[in-house]
Amino acid sequence: MRIQCPAKINLDLRVGPPRTDGFHPIRSWFVTVGLYDTLTLSPADDLSLTCDDPAVPSDARNLVWRAAEALRPAGRGVAITLSKRIPSGGGLGGGSSDAASALVRLDAFWELGRSRDELATIAATLGSDVPFFLYPPSAICRGRGEVIEPVPPPNSRWAVLVLPPIHMPTPAVFRRLDELRPTAAFDDETPQPTATTAAELLPTLVNDLEAPAFDLSPELAGMRGTLERRLDRPVRMSGSGSTLFTLYDAESEARAAALTLAGMGRVEAVPVAPPSGGASA
Ligand code: C5P
Repeated sequence: MRIQCPAKINLDLRVGPPRTDGFHPIRSWFVTVGLYDTLTLSPADDLSLTCDDPAVPSDARNLVWRAAEALRPAGRGVAITLSKRIPSGGGLGGGSSDAASALVRLDAFWELGRSRDELATIAATLGSDVPFFLYPPSAICRGRGEVIEPVPPPNSRWAVLVLPPIHMPTPAVFRRLDELRPTAAFDDETPQPTATTAAELLPTLVNDLEAPAFDLSPELAGMRGTLERRLDRPVRMSGSGSTLFTLYDAESEARAAALTLAGMGRVEAVPVAPPSGGASA
């Protein structure tokens, strides 16, 4: 069984002051995009995980392993292979998507019959971004990310992702936000943008984590400026970075933009299609 696990981008991400548990309340518009990791499941007596990226741990540090352990009935096994295409630590939710897909498909594989909401409760114990991937392709996520309101995806479903070779550690980005902005009003009811074209939508999108990420990495800040000048349009950061993106209404525009960026060196620019599949498919 081969399972495609899509990446996500945060089109819009508002962050409130830290809660007593240390997490930050968010209000974020998540959408899946057409860049995928692949999981395969095969019958086995015990639990095993192998991954084609040596930089990705294939033990209890891996969210797929933890998802499998959280569901696994006594005495059951599965051999899981994970093929990584979504860069780790880039704000694209690859590990979270892999874990959500593992929950859904292992539930079927072991014939457990858990409901989507039961799986979402387990997903929330694995990480703040995991529950979203049970409700693709588009949702407003609140709480620390686990309160999901599915909404229609935007019309502008083509994106160019720019994957800088910079790793942004999520906890440090949130901490820097608190230092830069010790008090902040937060309203998690801000209305979802209603723009219908990329040119209308992009200027309305905000990511509160851009300021701290760019403060921690002036190189990333410089890269965003360069991209906006080259493409002559707003470029946003996904999650806590370092992935940068912009949106297009048509495939031809996204492909042309990726070609424009190909000459820049140091960055990988990937045109991504609207996604198909995902944990709910
Ligand atoms: O839940 P997850 O493991 O993805 O979170 C990683 C880290 O990101 C947390 O330990 C916390 O420092 C930060 N975080 C946060 N507020 C959120 C989500 C994550 O402060 N809503």
